[in-house]
Formats: sequence, C-alpha cells, structure tokens
Amino acid sequence: MNTKIIRIQGQGENFSGGEDMALREAGEVLRRGGLVAFPTETVYGLGGDALNPESSRKIYAAKGRPADNPLIVHIARTEDLARIADRISESAVQLARAFWPGPLTMILHKSQEVPYETTGGLDTVAVRMPSHQVARRLISYGGGYVAAPSANLSGRPSPTSARYVKEDMDGRIDVIIDGGDGEIGLESTIVDLTVSPPQVLRPGFITRDMLAGVLGQVDLDRTLLRADSGQAPRAPGMKYRHYAPQGELTIVSGQAEQVTAYINACAAEDGSRGHKVGVIATDEELPGYRADLVCSLGSRRDEEEIARRLYGILRRFDDEKVTRIYSECFDDTGLGQAIMNRLLKAAGHRLVVLEGNQK
Ligand code: TXA
Ligand code: MG
Repeated sequence: MNTKIIRIQGQGENFSGGEDMALREAGEVLRRGGLVAFPTETVYGLGGDALNPESSRKIYAAKGRPADNPLIVHIARTEDLARIADRISESAVQLARAFWPGPLTMILHKSQEVPYETTGGLDTVAVRMPSHQVARRLISYGGGYVAAPSANLSGRPSPTSARYVKEDMDGRIDVIIDGGDGEIGLESTIVDLTVSPPQVLRPGFITRDMLAGVLGQVDLDRTLLRADSGQAPRAPGMKYRHYAPQGELTIVSGQAEQVTAYINACAAEDGSRGHKVGVIATDEELPGYRADLVCSLGSRRDEEEIARRLYGILRRFDDEKVTRIYSECFDDTGLGQAIMNRLLKAAGHRLVVLEGNQK
C-alpha cells in the first residue's frame, strides 16, 4: 500500500483552502473504510470509522495489536455522544463540560451502534473529544466517529510526531496527516464512569485531583503504579508491556548525587560487558553522567516538557541501538503520576531505590 502524507500547517479557522480540501479527502478515506493517522494534542492516532467493524479489524492488523484491546472512539461534538453511549450519567456530562475538548477519555456504557470489534468485545466504550483542530476537522469529515489507538506498532512508544508515525506505519495505512508535534506527548487520561466511585484507569494530563474537583471522589486503579498487586489492570491495554524500548530500562530513585554515582557505576560495568548504555536525565544532573548516550528530558521543574519529550527519547535510544538504559525517577504527583506510570511500564517495573531515600 502506498501511504500518502499530507502536511497541515494551519489551525482551525486558518486552514488554507488546499488544507481543508486535503482533510475532506482524508475524511472520505475514513468513510470508505480506510485508515488515516492524524495528530491530536496528546499523541498521533491511527484512525478508522468506529462504527465499521471492518475498519476496526484493519486497525488491529496495521498495529499488530491484540484484538481484545479496545479502541477509543473520537468525536468532534459533545452532542454526538448520545449515538454511541447509553445511560449517560450526570458525571459524564459534568466532565465533558469541564474537560472537552481535551485529553480526557471516558468509559461509558456502549450503545448497539458500536460494534464489538471496536470495543474489544466489551459492553463499554471509551470516548474522547480531542482539542486538536486537525483532528476535529478530520473527525467531522470522516463521519463523526473515529476509532483511534496511538499510531505506533504495538509495543513501541506512542508517536509524538508524524516522523515516528511514518517509521511505524509507512505502507500499512492509507494516509498520514502531519500536523506538527504533540503538545502534551502522553496519552489521554482514562476515567471509568461505569463504576462508582469513578476510577482513573490511565493517568494523564488531566489529573485525578482535577477530576475530583468536579466529581468529588475519584479512585485510582490500584494496579497502576505497582507491579506486585497481582491483579489485572482494568484498561485491557495497560496490561501489555506497551511503551517498551528495545534496551533494558531501569529507573533509579534516590538523592541526586547518589543516583548519578549509581548510574555511572552501572554504565561503566555494562560498558565493559559490551553494552551500549543510555541515560534519561534532567537538565539539572545532565553534566554528571558518563555513558554512551545521555539525553535530557528538560528541567526537573518543568513536568510538561518532560511529558512532551519522553517518548521521543525512548525512540532515539531504539534508533541508536542502546541495550541498557537508566533513568532518573520523578515524583508521582500531578502530571508526574502519568510520567512515572509510562516510565515504570517501559521499565517492566524495574526500579532501584537507593538507601536513605523514601521516594
Ligand atoms: O491520547 C490518547 O488517548 C490517544 C490519542 C490517539 O487519542 N489514544 C490512545 O489509544 O492512547 P490507545 O489505543 O493506545 O489506548 C487506549 C487505552 C487502552 O489501554 C485500552 O485498553 C483502553 O484505552 N480502553 C479502551 N476502551 C476501553 C474500555 N471500554 N474499557 C477499559 N479500557 C478501555
Ligand atoms: Mg497505545
């Protein structure tokens, strides 16, 4: 298959006539059952018509994704929710009002219109209304309901730029829309509203505190930050070692100097055994590391930048064929919770806690 690449530079009302035409054509591709990768404010999505079972099957095939891992349905207008969700609760209405369009996915009871192919056999459906103008225009032109997982091959980090989508999807899908880099860089927060109290199944930019500010009590899926709970996570996708770099990743927690010394010792030892060693650092500690490839996520004080850069750096380590990776650790509050969730998953929960540190 020849994958067509479309570049869109405008935003919303500023799309050029040519850009709007290109988005209209991409929408037609979706309506005919084809696949279109598109930018969102979180990561790039791999879109197909959510109400067409054949499109969902194609999405699983293009990603190499297990078919029991349900897709998120993207909409462009709140009023479109009624067709795909049943028994829409007051909580859902309140969250939509507070956070849509934006990086929040809600799990609701599905209507009969949504095929089981899209929901991985579940009676619930994940719905999100993205804020990215390119995404919204495409969804409207594509019929209003676009199922879209992240546009990476299964097991690779989610793509934060069209370049990474091309690496994974060239030749496998019909169209890639290049709309620049993801503003947030980590996938949306997922909150399950079919249980009481509501539960966060995947932390993201919209934090549990922000949700609780609207709804009162909101729980966190207990399996999220620990490896040892013995239970399966409630979002089926969270059980896979999803954001996995090819090198073995270890997270090191402790005081800054301890962490630097520990990582340098490991890097020297691994290096003597023929490993190529990478370090995921912050600006503050960057100069202290000795390894083959040291990359900074930005300043420790700027969690938004850390979130934005994380997946790109994991991909860079793959490109450079790094076989051992060490990362600094982050506070798991606020956006840090999403960062640590993704890092711990990428590390298969390999975490070293240095003595004298409670973090
Ligand atoms: O930011 C995002 O959410 C991006 C962009 C493209 O919108 N999409 C994304 O999709 O991250 P994906 O497929 O990579 O992750 C969807 C997650 C999976 O962990 C899946 O198991 C979970 O959502 N999920 C989907 N439907 C669900 C449902 N009905 N119940 C529980 N979990 C569900
Ligand atoms: Mg994904």
